[in-house]
Amino acid sequence: MNRNRLAGILLVGASLALTMPTWAASTWDGVYTDAQAAHGADRYKQVCAMCHGPALEGNGEAPPLVGRFMPDWEGTNLSDLYDKIHDTMPLFAPATLKPEDTGDILAFILQANGFPSGAMPLAAGDGLKSINFDVSKSAVKPMVKGRRAH
Ligand code: HEC
Repeated sequence: MNRNRLAGILLVGASLALTMPTWAASTWDGVYTDAQAAHGADRYKQVCAMCHGPALEGNGEAPPLVGRFMPDWEGTNLSDLYDKIHDTMPLFAPATLKPEDTGDILAFILQANGFPSGAMPLAAGDGLKSINFDVSKSAVKPMVKGRRAH
């Protein structure tokens, strides 16, 4: 990668970091990439599926991560869900997931719940606080000139 290209990427990254917290995004805004969800699906099979099931349906003890999972997390933000996964899962070895794996698994869970993918990967960190977990798309205010209407 040449230096100009790298500088360009850094600049875009920095301006996104500056603009992100100023408006609340939604899980309907395409907040993860397909590639990320595909990698997350692999990790999920290795460390989560034995309890939460191959189709995220749960196993009686471990709750489902689709269906009734959605209303349970309504009104939270992705930072809450990230922390729940990173700090308490997998149940037999909490806090052992790498941040990037946690983000990828979170992307896979979003995909499994029908949220759309987008161009920007989901990144661990403070930006997750500004992404609302919205169950219903119709509850999300429309974007006006790149900002959420109030
Ligand atoms: C050994 C079994 C086991 C494994 C492995 C496991 N979980 Fe869990 N998980 C549970 C149990 C039991 C609960 C319910 C108790 C709790 O919330 O701590 C739970 C709760 C959760 C919740 C909260 C669900 C809700 O609606 O409140 C999430 C999210 C979650 N797990 C994600 C994961 C992910 C992602 C992985 C893989 C990295 C994983 N779990 C691995 C057993 C497991």
